Amino acid sequence: MTSSAKCKLPIYTLNMLSGKVYIVTSPDLVNAVNRNSKKIAFNPFIAMLGKRITGHDEDTSRIVQHNLNGENGPGYVIDVHDRIVISLAPGKDLEQTTKAMLLQTSTYFEAFTTDAEVNLFEWTRYTVTMCSTRALYGPENPFNRNPKFVDSFWHFDHALNILIANVLPRIFAPKGYCARVELAAAFQHYFENYSPGQSAAMVQGRHFENTRYSITPLNQGRLEVGTLIGVLANTIPSIFYTLMHIYSDPILISDIRDELETSGFVGTPEDISQNPGLLAMPESCPLLHSTWQEVLRVHALGSGARYILEDVMLEDNFLLRKGMVVQMPMAVMHSDVAAWGDHVKDFQPRRFLKQNSASRGGFKPNLSAYRPFGGGVSMCPGRHFATLQTMALAACILSRFDLTPVDGQWNIPRQKQESLATNVFPPDKDVRVRIATRKGLGASK
Ligand code: HEM
Repeated sequence: MTSSAKCKLPIYTLNMLSGKVYIVTSPDLVNAVNRNSKKIAFNPFIAMLGKRITGHDEDTSRIVQHNLNGENGPGYVIDVHDRIVISLAPGKDLEQTTKAMLLQTSTYFEAFTTDAEVNLFEWTRYTVTMCSTRALYGPENPFNRNPKFVDSFWHFDHALNILIANVLPRIFAPKGYCARVELAAAFQHYFENYSPGQSAAMVQGRHFENTRYSITPLNQGRLEVGTLIGVLANTIPSIFYTLMHIYSDPILISDIRDELETSGFVGTPEDISQNPGLLAMPESCPLLHSTWQEVLRVHALGSGARYILEDVMLEDNFLLRKGMVVQMPMAVMHSDVAAWGDHVKDFQPRRFLKQNSASRGGFKPNLSAYRPFGGGVSMCPGRHFATLQTMALAACILSRFDLTPVDGQWNIPRQKQESLATNVFPPDKDVRVRIATRKGLGASK
């Protein structure tokens, strides 16, 4: 490993068999990468890895690759991206999708009877998979028709590294490979019988572009399985860790409950979904929001990747060569003392609160080092949905239930690396919790 700089090491060069990989670790250089999105692009990875991940056919591949980086005007990937960004931006569509997700969760709170026990990660995984997909795809959602697909999706997700490496996936990852085929067929059926009015704006927008670009229903089904990674794989571990951090800290839980009371985010999923300020929840519940941001700082450990389309000089100092790959590891930037201060290793739920700012004597974090959702033109379009989902679901649980660890002590599990396509890895073991109606609430609603 060599460094392109003399002092601190803001950029490393790793010589791999396939060429060079530049590893960018300085927030300023990451900003420079973002500013050069025409030369250092995200979309080539969609073309390079997408086919391996989803298994779509050659014709679809040609459609995906045409004008991939906007060389000659728009292309499929750019048009689909724009549709997703618009449908998930703060506004009516996002509000409707979040409400629909929330309303679905009522069914899954049936497990939360007094003195019941659940495995918290398993419960979160099942509930969020069922509810998010129902909100996006409507009543004909394949997961609704066959809840066994929840396990199928996660078999597929576990197999992603082998699918991406493309080394005999049928032999080395048979479960994940078969799960992908099964899910693609279910989504093919869904799109053959598609009724736009029943699905969320994001699915309508994608379906519109898929049809306009003549993608067949089978390949629409295959592509949709890839989209599910974006929808589910990071959000679910993030929600789990948010609940873990809040429930394991008695002062934090009490302060967040006060905040939820004050802003009216208490009660059943129906009650919370009817709060007219749902979209503004991050502003009206700053402590819960700051906790969520800190969860992502500590637990988002993936690595944003870019492909260099032409030679580019960063900050007049670092020459990056065409054809090479840039990696921007979140784990490095999220643990940088210069960006976050001496207590970088501690989980500080109040770190992102405005009143902690430098003007009040607090350490002002360098937010350029905050990368859970990537950055630049390809920044995660699902970030607002993930944030609202997490905050609203946490509000439903916090306002009505007490959770205690069955083994007597809260131990926040470590994360196990899932796949190259995941940024927030799941816990290496589950946590069994006992559920009780929140003290002072009486019978749960
Ligand atoms: C905690 C939850 C989430 C995290 C940490 C996360 C993180 C990311 C990251 C790091 C990227 C790559 C961006 C880049 O390199 O600049 C990405 C892309 C993407 N994410 Fe998310 N994501 C989350 C939730 C979601 C959700 C809920 C959706 C959809 C409903 C979604 C849809 C997507 C899509 C479609 C892309 C590809 C963007 C493109 O085509 O340019 N994500 N996400």
